Amino acid sequence: MTTVNNYASYRPEDHGLPGILELGEKIAAYFPEFAPAASVAYNPKVVSAESSKTFRTDGDKYGASSAERVGGVPVSEIRADFPILSERVGGKPLIWLDNAATTQRPRQVIERIVRYYERENSNTHRGAHTLAARSTDAYEVARRKVADFIGAASPDNIIFTRGTTEGLNLVAQSYVKRRLRPGDEIILTILEHHANIVPWQMIAEETGAALKIAPVDETGQIILPEYAALFTPRVKFASITQVSNALGVITPTAEMVAIAHSFGTPVCVDGAQSVSHMPVSVAGLDADFFVFSGHKVFGPNGIGAVYGKSEPLEEARPYQGGGNMIEDVTFERTTYKKAPAKFEAGTGNIAAAVGLGAAIDYVTAIGMENIESYERSLLEYAVRELSAVPGLRLIGSAAQRAGVISFVMEGRETEEIGDFLNAAGIAVRAGHHCAQPILRRFGLESTARPSLAFYNVKGEIDALAERLESPPR
Ligand code: ALA
Repeated sequence: MTTVNNYASYRPEDHGLPGILELGEKIAAYFPEFAPAASVAYNPKVVSAESSKTFRTDGDKYGASSAERVGGVPVSEIRADFPILSERVGGKPLIWLDNAATTQRPRQVIERIVRYYERENSNTHRGAHTLAARSTDAYEVARRKVADFIGAASPDNIIFTRGTTEGLNLVAQSYVKRRLRPGDEIILTILEHHANIVPWQMIAEETGAALKIAPVDETGQIILPEYAALFTPRVKFASITQVSNALGVITPTAEMVAIAHSFGTPVCVDGAQSVSHMPVSVAGLDADFFVFSGHKVFGPNGIGAVYGKSEPLEEARPYQGGGNMIEDVTFERTTYKKAPAKFEAGTGNIAAAVGLGAAIDYVTAIGMENIESYERSLLEYAVRELSAVPGLRLIGSAAQRAGVISFVMEGRETEEIGDFLNAAGIAVRAGHHCAQPILRRFGLESTARPSLAFYNVKGEIDALAERLESPPR
């Protein structure tokens, strides 16, 4: 058995194995029944009728009407793919409206992870044996799926991380920190999640740099002229969310990136709340970095990705060292592999990456444009219904919004709202949503926040509105 220590020179063909990254036919060689192309068109029969029956219980009381379709796919079929949507909570059918915190996983993702552990599990990039090749292929296929999903030029621009938070820390520590000098500035917006504030604050403290914060108007939207006015030659980096997790505002991201670039400032886009709601193109945005989490887009926990343009990735220095990321190590000096390997020290969450690939297949088969337009009308419906609830005040009314509604109710603590909705089987997040600055901008410490996905239906919104209209005394 040959031991392979240097993945860069490893050629599976030399070991009688199918070559890495020659996708379709090579994967089909291992698992003819799972050739990747098979899942390109949405096909609920990918999962056996038997397992489908097992999961379809009487719990789906708020099932979709036959008129509710995402593109051509009936929402009832989509809901049947998500086992947890048939759960009961306190004896009531679960209504999952906490999608901004985490999305649920379709059976196709769950089964893909099981298949990985049953038939492919091995460490990647090491040991030239069959399972190492299977696992490596599965991991690298997933990387390519991520690249295609967000419109990146190459899988080499995709670094796997634990999620958005780790991704933002990676960009801050590896790329931005070493460019900062005392008096330099980083521009954020008041909409940011704490994960897009704290890592920048940490490197600003360490280097003597400062943060500058772009404000929003009364609707919660960025004021572009005020954003542009923040840029000076001292600004070395900007980071912006594409969709606010607290208010659902879709920022004018492409315009903001263009403004930053006109001052020569590179930009990171936080896509944690956008990737599940709309088609994303890092090329279209011209983002220098883009980060997102798998669990927000129907994939597993513990996996996410950083996209980086090639030049900054080359310039960036890894902030974690270890196995897998080196070319050569002596006690005097280490040389690193090229990106993305140089940023992936240690063993990655291979199964989760593979599961993320399956999640991407799933939403791609349905069509992100279809998901976007279905959710837009569901959000409009929800805003209409909730606006009519006595004593309920919606927070944030920007014209461009996705997925999220934030509200407060007269005479009710938000935690109390969360509790009585939970008693009715309805899951929403109540609290500060890890986005305290934007809530404080509206004079609040917390809101109740239902958040949508493409498997939600009007019947669930009706149940929410009904419960809010007659809260317990
Ligand atoms: N960022 C997640 C949320 O908004 C946890 O709930």
